[in-house]
Amino acid sequence: MMPQAHIIGTGSAVPERILTNKDLESIVDTSDEWIIRRTGIKERRISSKEKDESTTDLATKASLKAMEMAGISSENLDMIVVGTVTSDRQFPSTACMVQQDLKAENAIAFDVSAGCTGFLYALTIANNAIRCGTCENALVIGVERLSSVVNWRDRNTCVLLADGAGAVVVTSKKDRGGILSSRLKSDGTLWELLYSSYGNSYIPEVLQGIDLKPLHLEMDGNRLFKKAIEYMSTITQRVMQDTSLSSEEIQLVIPHQANIRIIQGLAKSLKVPMEKVYTNIHKYGNTSSATIPIALDEANREGLVKKGENVLLVSFGSGLTWGASILNWSF
Ligand code: COA
Repeated sequence: MMPQAHIIGTGSAVPERILTNKDLESIVDTSDEWIIRRTGIKERRISSKEKDESTTDLATKASLKAMEMAGISSENLDMIVVGTVTSDRQFPSTACMVQQDLKAENAIAFDVSAGCTGFLYALTIANNAIRCGTCENALVIGVERLSSVVNWRDRNTCVLLADGAGAVVVTSKKDRGGILSSRLKSDGTLWELLYSSYGNSYIPEVLQGIDLKPLHLEMDGNRLFKKAIEYMSTITQRVMQDTSLSSEEIQLVIPHQANIRIIQGLAKSLKVPMEKVYTNIHKYGNTSSATIPIALDEANREGLVKKGENVLLVSFGSGLTWGASILNWSF
């Protein structure tokens, strides 16, 4: 039997500072009521410069928790792959910085830039390497510090985006289960729906202490909203066909946490009841490539994912990129 990629540990880390919708009312022309009704977000976490909450710090903290759960030491890692668009430096990669922190000297380390689908791209690369036999143990991370690239004068985006990290350890086993199918897609013709350029250096008073980069985000929220539901639905159908699983045989859906209305639209289109859909957007907002591994870690630690159950991960993001994976949970 070909080696299969099994997740054997999950971890996550978010900054200490909580930014509520009420706090945002003093920054832009918005309201707690609007943000909750239109997005489902109540609060989010924002990194502080003075608190060891850089992209690398968050990624390392999440990784240590995942490795502890997996019972794996850093010298046994042979791949570290990070989905991120907010690396601390242009180069080297966040993965190399995490490698240094973990002293994972036997790993290869690199980042993947695929917007909010970054974690699923990274997981798929690790899955393929394990199935080919070129990797035994991979650390897969989704991490973002979007507060550093948000335009804090733009109410269309600054209420949505936030910081955090999630990680999983994936290992090679000859047992059935693990990652059953993983599919990715992208469409570069739609890049203008969500991108980041240079230009903004404004930080509102209540957020002094943010390590701002000379970048800011532009987004066409309405067009993204529609594409998100359509693309996540079609790619989910594809992984369900690959695995011959029906929606009734999926016990838990962990979608990208961009907007509760997108998640509800996806659930409706897939005919999956919302009780099977894990959401934590109210606490963390959209942390881009970190939403899925943070949610997976929380669901796992809350005992919501049980051995033998099928879990669907599905995401979309800037690029455009989108992807889905079905896992048979094996620990
Ligand atoms: N507070 C108050 N009003 C706001 C606001 C805010 N934070 N942001 C936008 N508005 C206003 C708009 O200016 C607009 O006002 P107008 O009618 O006077 O022009 C009105 O609310 C409606 O705007 P609209 O864009 O139609 O709202 P919406 O219901 O589509 O919600 C998003 C906007 C951004 C929440 C929604 O489109 C969305 O979530 N899109 C997907 C974004 C996404 O997922 N991005 C990440 C991809 S990974």
